[in-house]
Parts: sequence; C-alpha cells; structure tokens
Amino acid sequence: MSRRFARALLAFCAAVAAFPEEEDVVVLTADNFDSFIKQSPLALVEFYAPWCGHCKQLAPAWSKAAAKSKKLPVPVPLAKVDATVEEDLASKYEVSGYPTIKLFKNGVAEDYIGPRDADGILAYVAKISGFKLQQLNSTEDLTALAKKSTHPIVLGLFRMPVAASSFFQKFSKAAFEATGQPVVFAYSASYATPPLMPPTVDGKKPPVPGLVLLDPAAISSPVSTRGLYTMPRKKEDFTLDAIATWLNSNGVKVALEEKEEVDDHPKDYSEHGDDHDSSHYEDYD
Ligand SMILES: *[C@@H]1O[C@H](CO)[C@@H](O)[C@H](O)[C@H]1NC(C)=O
Repeated sequence: MSRRFARALLAFCAAVAAFPEEEDVVVLTADNFDSFIKQSPLALVEFYAPWCGHCKQLAPAWSKAAAKSKKLPVPVPLAKVDATVEEDLASKYEVSGYPTIKLFKNGVAEDYIGPRDADGILAYVAKISGFKLQQLNSTEDLTALAKKSTHPIVLGLFRMPVAASSFFQKFSKAAFEATGQPVVFAYSASYATPPLMPPTVDGKKPPVPGLVLLDPAAISSPVSTRGLYTMPRKKEDFTLDAIATWLNSNGVKVALEEKEEVDDHPKDYSEHGDDHDSSHYEDYD
C-alpha cells in the first residue's frame, strides 16, 4: 500500500467516523475535537465542569436544542467538552468559567453570548444556519420544491406584508417546529392574490389567508376541502396545536409543540430577517 493511499484511507476513515453522542450532544475529547471542528462548518461547543450547577441547569436545554439543530437543513451540531478532564482544550480556548460556550465558524472560535433556553438556542442556531421558510412565487417554484421533497407540502397563502400578519408568524413557528419531521412548509404571498393558488375540487379559490396541503407527487391535482385550512375567526385559535390536528387528521404525522414566548430573545424565523419590526405595521389579518 502506497503511503499516499494509506494517508487518503486514514483521512477517509476519520471523515466517516461518527462522533459519540450523549442525548444528541456530541461528546468531544482531545482525540476527536479537531476532526469534529474540521468537518463542522458551524458548531456550538459547551465547556463544562461536572460539578457546576449552571452546567447541570443548561444540560436539558442543550440536549433538547441539539436534537433539533442537527436536523436543520444546514445542521449545527451541539457538543460538549468536560473542561476538568480536557485541560489542554480548555486552556487553548481560554475557558475561565463554566459553562463557557463557543461558536465555531469554519474552525474559528468566538464566544457565544446568546440565549440559554432550548427555544432560544434553537432560534439562534436556525438563524446562523440560515433556516428559511421558502417563499414560492410561481408554479415552477412549487414544482421544484415538490421534486426535492417526498413529504407532503403545507403551502401557506398570505397577503403582503406577511410581517404584519400574526397568522404568518404562527405559521413560521409551526414551520420551524416541524424541522426534521415528515412535512415541508412553504408560502405564497402578494398584495392582492398570492401567485400560487392551487385548484380545488369544487373550483372555488383556496382561502387567503389559509393553508393548503399538497401531495408532492400530485401538486397540480385539485385539492379537496379536507386539504384546505381556513384561518379561524379568532387569531388566538390559530395555534400550533390546531395546525398539527389538521395535519394529523389528513394522515400527516407531526407534533408541533407550543413554546412560551421569551420576550428578551425575540425570535425571527422568516426570511424577512432583521429588516422588519412587525410593530411598525398595522395589524393586517
Ligand atoms: C420569491 O420572491 C422573494 C421576494 O422577491 C424571494 O426572496 C424568494 O427567493 C423567491 N422565491 C424563489 C423560490 O425564488
């Protein structure tokens, strides 16, 4: 075996080696740290001490966020290092208190000063990994999405500006919660009629704002009433539970967990990102 081949083989083995996990959190040591960082363009690493109370407090949130963030379209693994054992790593990354969380971007470490609740960590991670709720503007966009997906598509129909719609905000949350589950969320919106209005069995237009459930194998087939969700009269009734119930009743197995709002960590899941503040808009629904 040539030396070059041996080296390539070694590199290959390192690349496919799975990293050990505890409750979805990657367990890092001096032995696997560098290869993990090298193969993860984005990663969050917690340096902890087994005796530290704040670390114990963080653990459930860390593992809950880890389970979802590794399933994002651009996965962001969450890892941990026992800094009392891995002293060299701890000193290399200037860990002075516990827990210390570092964000690694293409191998470069920076301090993570984001939220420490599961929901907040996920929102942060989704943002840096570029979680986007897709806006579809044409039948071609929908066809392209359907080609990529084997899962049912929930198409939200909204009017612009979507940032002003509390229905849209709930919809975005549902989409985010559905990450990693067998369903895909996308939306269509414009100031008048959304450009994508799938045909219905009775020839009537689908409701706006409203939701349409589409089979990716038959996106141009007319949608029956069961596949349509009309927004309830009261905004408060449009909940993640309501969306999940509707999907479940249509044979789509998803669980959408309603989260407490954390006021000091505003969440933004839409591709409109930072450039809006919905409070500037009149309520539009
Ligand atoms: C639809 O239009 C929006 C706004 O111009 C754009 O951001 C988005 O990327 C478009 N969607 C697709 C699938 O091209």
